Amino acid sequence: MQADLYVKNGTVVSHRGTMVADIAIKDEKIIAIGNLSNVDAKEVIDATGLHVLPGVIDTQVHFREPGLEYKEDLATGTAAAAQGGVTAIFEMPNTNPLTLTAADMADKVRRGRAKAWTDFAFFIGAAAENVSELAMLEREEGVSGVKLFMGSSTGSLLVDNDADIRRVFKAGSRRVAIHAEDEPRLIERRHLAKDTVLNHPIWRDEEVAYKATQRVLAIARETGRRIHVLHITTKQEMELLAQYKDIATVEATPQHLTLSAPECYEELGSFAQMNPPIRGEEHRLGLWQALRDGVVDVIGSDHAPHTREEKERPYPESPSGMPGVQTLLPLMLDHCNKGELSLEHVVDLTSAGPARIYGIAGKGRIGVGFDGDLTIVDMNRSQEITEDWIESKCGWTPFAGKTVKGWPVGTIIRGRQVMRDGELIGPSAGQPVKFQECL
Ligand code: DOR
Repeated sequence: MQADLYVKNGTVVSHRGTMVADIAIKDEKIIAIGNLSNVDAKEVIDATGLHVLPGVIDTQVHFREPGLEYKEDLATGTAAAAQGGVTAIFEMPNTNPLTLTAADMADKVRRGRAKAWTDFAFFIGAAAENVSELAMLEREEGVSGVKLFMGSSTGSLLVDNDADIRRVFKAGSRRVAIHAEDEPRLIERRHLAKDTVLNHPIWRDEEVAYKATQRVLAIARETGRRIHVLHITTKQEMELLAQYKDIATVEATPQHLTLSAPECYEELGSFAQMNPPIRGEEHRLGLWQALRDGVVDVIGSDHAPHTREEKERPYPESPSGMPGVQTLLPLMLDHCNKGELSLEHVVDLTSAGPARIYGIAGKGRIGVGFDGDLTIVDMNRSQEITEDWIESKCGWTPFAGKTVKGWPVGTIIRGRQVMRDGELIGPSAGQPVKFQECL
């Protein structure tokens, strides 16, 4: 058998379970899996003792290009992704300009082709001014879906009233990813955002999140539009979301599953500030319960870098958001090694989940005919997360100094090694992800 890449003797985690197997890739696709012999490959990876996972897809990142490249760009953001074992990313529209038109989208896709290390797709932003074109815009090349901010966060994208949300949901049919925080309640409580970042989760309290999630679920049901509710932070929202599994998928982030308040703010100050906020231990445990119950469909990082100088400004001038694309997998592998979830579950949440939610064409599974996207991890490697390792332009991570067990050692995208043992292997060659509804 002729192959371009032959990954030999790894412990493959797939739909068949977890077993030692070989994988052959040719012309960007997986061509054979099993106990293979007589493979004549241009390149061989001996994965003995390592786990081979379907390529990890991070469906929520902010890479800041165009317009805010001093924080991040598509080259540095996707380099961070590849270093963290991520093979594809979906990027958010709160750039400058906002991603609202076909020209904005084509520009991002062109930039991605020129410099992305991983495969990529972009969300088209929903706004009052582009509602009438959304049904057409959602079908442009490289579009993962529609993004709707119900509450103000970083940038000016906002659709805060039910009538406009309804109009967005009636325009088009692809999945709408939702930032669910209730804008009227945020405005009403804005006076609480003062003095110390410890007040951040008090201003943007549980009710801010719950109210928005409740409103958006009702409108989704009424209009029959499938939605994906991002970065859920409360136990109560998870209980509600469990009643809407026909129409709504759910994201949790590694940071909300790992950090809790008030300790995170005491230790990290505004570096732990994000929207929706990190909350108390009761909620963190509630998220884990929902994850184990199968209510959570996907883990997304909400990678949202800001410079150190910006984060050091006194609250509330400090911007919300933290980097995470590079630490998503190490943190989840560490949780796995601690017995919080199985490796099969990590795989479901980072490859099958994204494919199911967004209808990704040809990715999300180690199967013959699928793209040769693999993430190779060493489950026995204990490693300290350091800022030196961070590829992101911001140069920091809230997890610096944390030692995790489980580490990405190889990133393979469409049969090409992009990261091996911490080294990026150029040139960058990311391509737009394809979606079943828009082939
Ligand atoms: O904390 C956040 N930061 N939440 C968001 O919704 C946006 C993000 C950003 O872009 O900085």
